[in-house]
Order: sequence, then C-alpha cells, then structure tokens
Amino acid sequence: MRCQSWLCLFCLVLPWMLCQGTSRSHPQQVHLSYPGEPTAMTVTWTTFAPAGSIVEFGPEPGRAFIASVRGEASLFVDGGCERRRLYIHRVTLRGLVPGQRYVYRCGSLRGWSRPYSFRALPNGTNWSPRLAVFGDMGNINPQSLPRLQRDTQQHMYDVMLHVGDFAYDMDQYNARVGDAFMRQIEPVAASVPYMTCPGNHEEKYNFSNYRARFSMPGDTEGLWYSWDIGPAHIISFSTEVYFYLKYGPHLIQKQYQWLEKDLQEATRPDRRRRRPWIITMGHRPMYCSNNDLDDCTKHESIVRQGLPEHQYGLEDLFYKYGVDLELWAHEHSYERLWPVYNYQVYNGSTAAPYTHPRAPVHIITGSAGCKERLDSFVLNPREWSAVRIEDYGYTRLHIVNSSHIWLEQVSDDQDGKVVDGIWIIKELHGPEAWH
Ligand SMILES: [Fe+2]
Repeated sequence: MRCQSWLCLFCLVLPWMLCQGTSRSHPQQVHLSYPGEPTAMTVTWTTFAPAGSIVEFGPEPGRAFIASVRGEASLFVDGGCERRRLYIHRVTLRGLVPGQRYVYRCGSLRGWSRPYSFRALPNGTNWSPRLAVFGDMGNINPQSLPRLQRDTQQHMYDVMLHVGDFAYDMDQYNARVGDAFMRQIEPVAASVPYMTCPGNHEEKYNFSNYRARFSMPGDTEGLWYSWDIGPAHIISFSTEVYFYLKYGPHLIQKQYQWLEKDLQEATRPDRRRRRPWIITMGHRPMYCSNNDLDDCTKHESIVRQGLPEHQYGLEDLFYKYGVDLELWAHEHSYERLWPVYNYQVYNGSTAAPYTHPRAPVHIITGSAGCKERLDSFVLNPREWSAVRIEDYGYTRLHIVNSSHIWLEQVSDDQDGKVVDGIWIIKELHGPEAWH
C-alpha cells in the first residue's frame, strides 16, 4: 500500500533529494563499531550498487593511508514493497596500536568516503573510558545530535551507546529514512564506535534493518552481545523479545540463557577482579515514572518480572549476579532511580545513596530527540525515583576506575548544562555488595 497513490510521487522525489550528488557505488553511512577484540575496529558503510570493500588507513600524524584492508559486502533487501537493495560493507581493522589515533577512508576505486579519524581503544583494564549514552533519536528532530557531534569533535568520548529506537523508523519509505538517519549520524558514528541495542521502532520485518545496518560483536546480528571496555563488562540485549512474540517466543528463553551464561562468566572471581563493573543496556526499562502506561509503569512489568509466573524476568537475574548499573531508554525523558530491587530502595546510606549501593542503579535516558517529542511524568512519583528531567539531552558515563563511576546528564534545552550528576562508588562488586 505504501507505494500507491500520492506516496508514489514521494517515493520518486525523495530518493532523488536524498541521493543527489552521489553515485550508487559511492560509500555513505559510514560508521564504526568495536568488534569486541582488543586492537580491532570495524568500519561499516553502504552503497546502492556493488562495489569493493576496502579501508585504507594509517596512524595520525603521519603519512595517511599506508595500510589497506579488504572486507566483504552483503546484500540487504529491505522488506518494503520496492524491495530496495543495499550493499552493506564491513571491514575489520586488526593489530591497531592501543590508544593510537588513525586516519582512514573507506570505499573502492569506484568511490571513496571523505577521510575520518578514530582512536583505537586502549587495551587492558587500567584506563578510564568515557561514553555518551542515549536512546530514541530520530531522523526528524534529533535535537541532541549537533551537541553530540561537537563533543565528539572535541574527543570527549571513547564510545557511544545508542540504547534503541533509531530514525523513526529505519524501514520507513522503503528504508530511505534509515539511509537518511545513518547519514545524519555519520559525523559522530564514523569517529567513535557506535554501539547499539534494538528498540521497538526497529521491529519491522523482524528487525531486519537494524540487523543488517549495524555490526555488533557476536553472532546474533546485534540483538544481544557483550564486550569489555577498561574496567567494565557491558551487556547489550533486546527487551523486544518479550513483546514481539511473532518472531519466536523461544527467543526469550534463548536470550535469557545466553544472559545467564554471560553473567556467570563475567562474575568468575578472576574476571570480576579485573573488570568489576557490570553494566547492562536494554531499550525498555523495568521502572519509570512516566504517565504513558508503558510496560515500565506497571508493577508487573514484563521486562522486570518476565512472563506470567515470573519466567525469564530480568530483575532477579541481574540482582543475582550483582549487575552494578542498568541503562535504559524508550521513555523520552531522563530519570535516575535510587538503588532499587523489587520496588524497595537500597541506598548505601541516607547521606551517600550511591556509595556502596545495595541494589543496582537504573538510568533511563531516552531524550536524545525524535518526532514523538518528550514524554511527561506522573505528578507524584514513587519513592524509588530520585530525579526526573523532561529536557532533550543525553548522558555521559565516565568509568573512572574499578571503584568509581561518574554519571552526568546534559540538557540540550539548557545549552549543554549538566543538570544531574552522581558518583557511584563501590569497593565491593557482586551480590555480596548487596548485604
Ligand atoms: Fe521505544
């Protein structure tokens, strides 16, 4: 239906508007991701016609493009009525010098991207990663994006975490909205690894646009995976398996079993000693104070409690393995919770709630900006809710060392003002910290 009537004209004019000035084999939508291997970085881009998959790169400062690596392209056929064909190119650079800045370009003799640069992630656990964290950023009204770009150009971040809901939606207009969005984020995502998890807006055609366009670690096309950075282990997962059962109810169990196995490995004493912080990112929160009747507003939240009879609930699982910090989005607002488990507040102390907290800390940061605008809060929030901010913005996460994390919220509406900030201080990690 989408390709009929007046939309036909739109379908004809929009691609011309979006693609003018570029040939079909010219690289676009360039973005980076960390493949989970130290000293490696993956470059992903799109062409609309077959072309080579080459990255030329070299250390900065120095002679540019002294090395060249070939990768592979895969054909992605969008599920819309036009069945548009995109060629997604992936090249992984290996053997990078930790902490070294590199300049690169991608493409082939049929066309090269402009040069970009990135810093290879430092290796080991003894450094202090800085991350930007946000969700729910769209093609229309991505209000925080210019500020994120400015921050990126000042080398403020090692990584970005986009906690679900992209473009609104990537599949729209036969995936042209996805193309436009991936071009919009290129100034940011081509310079720092852009790590993702799926949200409800990626659902169309079994999350196919999400799975095809990003290159996350592991073999699940980015639906769930984990990776290490400095003193932290980060787990990305899909809350959407609980809501789109049409794609397979078995995915709930499959993911849950993977999560438990990953947590068991990450909490082995030798591993947790090296990487004590365990941080999760998933799109739909377990708790929230918004007034929109979403899952998180319900006491028996499916993400929190699982299916009826509390099967595959995530709150108990994360609590059992002593997850320190849980990052969420979906609600178009910012909310910080007191350390909470099973609706009870477990502050470290009244004077210092986040020093030795006795339950996981939750942050909901879904206000990067999209056409659905902001979500408002209930008048009288529950006792587990510490701070609520209804501004466009994003979160900065600084994993300082094995005992200290700094979190701050940037308001784009207030010209970049830091409107919230906390230290999470923990000498002890794991479930023993709860008691
Ligand atoms: Fe969402």
